[in-house]
Amino acid sequence: MNILKIWKLSDKKELFILQLLMNMGMAGITIIVSNFAKNAVDHGIDEGKMLGIFVQFVIITFLGVGLSYSGVIIRSKFSIGLIEKLRNITNDKLINSKYEYFENESSGSINNRILHDMSSVGDYMSGGLPEFLSNMIVLICCFIYLLTLNITMTLVSALCIPVAVAVAKKVAAPTYDTMEKFSKKMDEVMGIAQDTVNGIKIEKAYNLRERRKKYFDENMEQATSYFVAYEKLVVKAGPYKYVIRSAPMFVSIMLGFYNAYKGNITNGEMVAFILLLQNVSKPLSELTRYVTEFKEAMVSVDRVMEIVELSEEAFGTGEAFEREIAFELHNVSFSYGKDNKTSDNVLNDISLFIPKGKTVALVGSSGSGKSTLFKLLLGFHTTTQGEVRLFGKNIMEWDIEKARKNISYVAQDTYLFEGTVAQNIAYGKPDASFNEIIQAAEKAYAHDFIMSMSEGYQTVLSERGTNISGGQKQRIAIARAFLKDAPIFLLDEMTSALDVESEKLIQKAIENYSERKTVILIAHRLSTIINADEIYVLSHGIIAENGTHEGLLEKKGVYNMLYSNQVLGNTGEQDA
Ligand SMILES: Nc1ncnc2c1ncn2[C@@H]1O[C@H](COP(=O)(O)OP(=O)(O)OP(=O)(O)O)[C@@H](O)[C@H]1O
Ligand SMILES: [Mg+2]
Repeated sequence: MNILKIWKLSDKKELFILQLLMNMGMAGITIIVSNFAKNAVDHGIDEGKMLGIFVQFVIITFLGVGLSYSGVIIRSKFSIGLIEKLRNITNDKLINSKYEYFENESSGSINNRILHDMSSVGDYMSGGLPEFLSNMIVLICCFIYLLTLNITMTLVSALCIPVAVAVAKKVAAPTYDTMEKFSKKMDEVMGIAQDTVNGIKIEKAYNLRERRKKYFDENMEQATSYFVAYEKLVVKAGPYKYVIRSAPMFVSIMLGFYNAYKGNITNGEMVAFILLLQNVSKPLSELTRYVTEFKEAMVSVDRVMEIVELSEEAFGTGEAFEREIAFELHNVSFSYGKDNKTSDNVLNDISLFIPKGKTVALVGSSGSGKSTLFKLLLGFHTTTQGEVRLFGKNIMEWDIEKARKNISYVAQDTYLFEGTVAQNIAYGKPDASFNEIIQAAEKAYAHDFIMSMSEGYQTVLSERGTNISGGQKQRIAIARAFLKDAPIFLLDEMTSALDVESEKLIQKAIENYSERKTVILIAHRLSTIINADEIYVLSHGIIAENGTHEGLLEKKGVYNMLYSNQVLGNTGEQDA
């Protein structure tokens, strides 16, 4: 059960158990008081013992107050510890989980789980659950004592319990479904809100305000309607609560009077019975609430556990030192679909060898699978068929962190973290000196524009780097990759946001670099890759042609056509 798994994750399980034990102590106090009432009614109170009884009562009262006060402290310590642990675990899991999780799950859903579901779980584990368990303990303890008082009366009253449980279950069942629908809808609402921030430029430029607002309102309205339905179900459970609470009381008071009248029990026993029964009927009357809360919490528990149990990148432990061939692809096919049999392959039966020290280019029309191929080289996805080898070793058998140490990667969509320019470049090499950062920026022709910024390298970039230009972002990303200085360079469309001047400079920097490195470039502008040692032309997921620039031109095939189009069209922007 997921709730047990969550409990096991806590580092402070003893606090939870201590809390339950303290609640048992509270139940004990209740029993002592009832027992005292029984004796007082049956045997009267001896005047001489009054002081002793008074002292006992004071002690018991203080003990009760002490237990309940320390219970609150222990409970909050447990819950704070648990939430902190869950936050750490989910964060670790998200970092370590397979890349494909992020392609399949919306960021709205992930955020909703981390923010809303996590605190619901914490609240329940420190509130609803211990309350429920404690009351059940009180119920059982009192029940046992009641049995010692009078078996028949207790058993007859207890007949009401299974009825109460059945009613509670039935009442609570729909709340789970409604809560689940609400949570899923809230994932969407969070996603839309996030999209509004990310897509603000487009929304303004295309006057989408009304449309997006309507879209948000509709979804929010739907979410609210689920929540209202849920609240209605909770309210509807109210009357059942009173029936469940009153039934055992009513039955046992009647039985108690009858048995006392018949002389089967003493008056004192009847008083103790009724006093204790209140402690039994209270948790019983709350049973519908407990079950409803439990079901509601289970929605969040399941959603949090989905992250906790995310499968991590399950790669091997080794690394390889055979350095003659950087990458080998053997009959690699890949499909994004989960059901690989029915989904179309994005890459089909690709075999290629990239020797160490060479510069290789991948060209092909948009959607032909170039970036996907990079994802396989980086071990983001596993192949559907065939294998990818890095330095002669199947990438799946590598310790993936060691494998990625060999690769400097510039993605097609540049991502900069919130922080300073220097910090962003330093992600390439966390222990880099400031001088190394500057050198990398110089190589990426980023130094001059960085120096012209208000705070130079200490200029804080806003989230997603919205306060600098696209070309500047790209050069910072390239500087980051240069600083990493890995033996293999993967550059996906690195010059797409650069002007012709910067593009030439970057090209030159890459050429300088490629003297010492294996470089794999994805390029739309064919002018940037004419010096590559080998060019692979991808078309609909297969390699249509490969060779050098001159060789491919002579073949007068796809590459020749693409190149002629670009040169003749002379735009330099056209898709290859
Ligand atoms: N996460 C994904 N899930 C499903 N399909 C995807 C995913 N990413 C890409 N695809 C599909 O795979 C195909 C290849 O995409 P890929 O990004 O590799 O193309 P590309 O050659 O890099 O294109 P471009 O030159 O436009 O960047 C496309 O048809 C695309 O729609
Ligand atoms: Mg691409």
